[in-house]
Amino acid sequence: MKIQKKMNRGLKLLHKRGFATFRNTALTRLSLKMKPARCLNWPSFAQIEITTYCNLRCSTCKEFTDQFGSEAEILKHLDFGKFKKIFERLPYLKRVRLNGVGEPLLHPEFLEMIQFVNSKGIEIEFFSNGTMFREEVSQELIKYGVNTIFFSIDGAERDTFERIRKGAKFDEVMQNIRRFVELKKKSGLETPDAVAITTLSKDNISEVPAIVELVHSLGLKKMMIKRMIPWVEELEGMQKFFDQFGYNMPEEFVEEQQELKRRLGHWAG
Ligand SMILES: C[S@@+](CC[C@H](N)C(=O)[O-])C[C@H]1O[C@@H](n2cnc3c(N)ncnc32)[C@H](O)[C@@H]1O
Ligand code: SF4
Repeated sequence: MKIQKKMNRGLKLLHKRGFATFRNTALTRLSLKMKPARCLNWPSFAQIEITTYCNLRCSTCKEFTDQFGSEAEILKHLDFGKFKKIFERLPYLKRVRLNGVGEPLLHPEFLEMIQFVNSKGIEIEFFSNGTMFREEVSQELIKYGVNTIFFSIDGAERDTFERIRKGAKFDEVMQNIRRFVELKKKSGLETPDAVAITTLSKDNISEVPAIVELVHSLGLKKMMIKRMIPWVEELEGMQKFFDQFGYNMPEEFVEEQQELKRRLGHWAG
């Protein structure tokens, strides 16, 4: 199945982009292996911050954005014309991530951007807070060929979730994700893959096993966990908090993880 998927993707790329893309892939592999002083290939992945607007004020993110200036100074949508130019300058892109800081669905031309990138045979992924996944938008995202959507889920309990993701309503976001998964299933299409991403901090670390259960019950394909980066001084205590664990899973969760593994199988591995 995996090989078939890879072959389909390869054929799609060959059809839309020609042999130059394959040549660039070969040069990428060579660069990675030989590590020459000057890279031999063009970038095959780009992350494009299409907007800095956001409808939430998450505790992990807000102080970070605040340090760049007032809202009036930092809030911007990337112009569609400039967006298109990026693809002229980076002709061998294979995958793009359409978000930086900000909620990508707030860009007024988000769906047009997706159609544009898709028409070039480039894979699309983005992170979202899940607050704006109404039925119609979900249908369109499924139809326009997005490959992966990462839903940010930072808590399994309503209180924790809403304390970290300030401005979001837990029940609403969960309902949006459930509906999206259902619509995707009904479409019979292979993509988008819907994935959960959890930003780990001392405010939600004790809920990790419950988040695993929640994500599983939502029908998402997999879950990824990353540590919160203390971008600004106010969040630095977090680093000290993580120091006590190194890169190991905190002792008290090892047993819980084993138990989850027994119940949910490979999914909780
Ligand atoms: C900045 S958001 C932008 C996309 C979208 N608004 C969202 O929340 O998914 C991208 C990811 O960064 C995470 N994030 C926020 N603050 C962070 C921090 N201090 N360190 C690491 N990741 C963080 C969010 O939880 C989210 O998963
Ligand atoms: S929803 Fe995303 S961009 Fe907006 S404040 Fe939260 S983490 Fe930052």
